[in-house]
Amino acid sequence: MNDWTTSHDRVLAQRNAEGWMFLIEAARDLRTTGAIAPSGKALARALTDPVRAQAPRPLAVLEAGAGTGAVTRTLIPELPRASHLDVVEANPRFAARLRHLVTTHPDLAARPAQVNVHQTYVEQLDIDQRYDVIVSGLPLTNFTPVQVERIMARYMELLHPGGTLTYFAYLGTRKARALTASRAEARRHAAVDDIMAAYQRTYATGRWTVWGNVPPAYVWHLQRPLVSAETDQLEPQTDWASR
Ligand SMILES: C[S@@+](CC[C@H](N)C(=O)[O-])C[C@H]1O[C@@H](n2cnc3c(N)ncnc32)[C@H](O)[C@@H]1O
Repeated sequence: MNDWTTSHDRVLAQRNAEGWMFLIEAARDLRTTGAIAPSGKALARALTDPVRAQAPRPLAVLEAGAGTGAVTRTLIPELPRASHLDVVEANPRFAARLRHLVTTHPDLAARPAQVNVHQTYVEQLDIDQRYDVIVSGLPLTNFTPVQVERIMARYMELLHPGGTLTYFAYLGTRKARALTASRAEARRHAAVDDIMAAYQRTYATGRWTVWGNVPPAYVWHLQRPLVSAETDQLEPQTDWASR
């Protein structure tokens, strides 16, 4: 067996193990895990585009909801020199896996302090730092409108003026939920979509469809304005916010 075969086999075995780990965590808690498999390469690339777009200047980057590291693995080699990446993951088993990824990644051997893994909910992240790019893998359409308001407000607060938030949403989930879930669930999903639509109207700079992911997904880029004006305030939401 040559070196290429063994390293290729190692990568396949690792992907397989991660696939199983993801599935087990989804079975434990599908609402928070948000998917039954990690994102594919095409989605990871679309999500990390703002990092490539702003290179080679040093960047502060936050990845929220990193799971087994499918997007983190694409991000690390793209980080310009002297950049910093904070990875936030709520699930302690995923966070342990991410710490292993970071401590063993060959690109970080000479600069381990470049990446920190935080095991916490991103809305509770207690950090005195602002970011040029936030990459969010959070399954927002599984959350309550109150949680989504809180997370989006925190993202905007954590961005530098001019910074970019990039996130994804699977295609067709609202229709699927309307057909299969309870009316209360369908209403919750619609209310979250309304909140996100308000953010998109105010801050979106682009949306792309990634057909090469299973399932296909939209990737959104939102930009915090350089100068925050009174008019940047989002309209108050419906009575969901007080539930
Ligand atoms: C849909 S998975 C995405 C995982 C990975 N980014 C990918 O694309 O394969 C969502 C991840 O977000 C994590 N998560 C959910 N809510 C979170 C929160 N409030 N703060 C931080 N992580 C969260 C879950 O544990 C899960 O790992």
